[in-house]
Amino acid sequence: MYKLTGVTKHYRRAKDTVEALRGVDLVIEDGDQLVIQGPTGGGKSTLLQMLGALDRPTEGSVEFDGVDLARLSEAKLTKVRAENIGFIFQSFNLIPTLTALENVETALVPMGVKAAERRRLAAEALDSVGLAERLSHLPSELSGGQQQRVAIARALVKKPKVLLADEPTGNLDEATRADIIGLLEGLWKERGLTFILVTHDSGIAKRAPRLASIRKGRVTVTERISAV
Ligand SMILES: Nc1ncnc2c1ncn2[C@@H]1O[C@H](COP(=O)(O)OP(=O)(O)O)[C@@H](O)[C@H]1O
Ligand SMILES: [Mg+2]
Repeated sequence: MYKLTGVTKHYRRAKDTVEALRGVDLVIEDGDQLVIQGPTGGGKSTLLQMLGALDRPTEGSVEFDGVDLARLSEAKLTKVRAENIGFIFQSFNLIPTLTALENVETALVPMGVKAAERRRLAAEALDSVGLAERLSHLPSELSGGQQQRVAIARALVKKPKVLLADEPTGNLDEATRADIIGLLEGLWKERGLTFILVTHDSGIAKRAPRLASIRKGRVTVTERISAV
């Protein structure tokens, strides 16, 4: 699925250059779960942006199903992203003026899905995250955990190959964190997704089948054969 070779990412700001990634080599197979952990500023979100075709590396290649994302035009990256990749963020990133159903529908607009079909698929996705009774609620009328469930439904409604989650439980209380992680792991197993999760939760990191530790832009992978 993914093959990263010698990936570096430099951010230039005025006269300063930040080396956010420094030579990352990483292979992620179809259907794998990879947990990414490391201190703030280590490069976790930058790595996720490379995997999610949100940005290109400064050097190196990011192969996704045999295509080097580093060489694609902006328009092609947008297409890869819209069709294949679901994102979840710490801050949910829902549109405040849209209902839960409308928020989920937005993921299907770039693919040209007709309105009635969009509504049907969005309602089905919300049902699969336990929110069948909340379709017409605005984000402000939902709890944090429910808002994250809407974001999960939005990420999955287009049936992506890859689910990328950047500290998805960072804004939630402990009980809700466990609910959301349980939901995500269930969806990963059911749907044969490739699931890449950035988290600070050391409990999750400990039982991860595959853990990528990232520190100062460098990645070390640990496999846990016993956890499989
Ligand atoms: N858009 C940007 N412009 C400049 N520097 C950035 C940008 N994004 C991230 N950085 C810097 O790159 C480094 C890695 O950041 P990030 O990938 O967000 O780390 P993490 O997610 O592990 O906290 C940090 O030093 C951060 O300040
Ligand atoms: Mg981050």
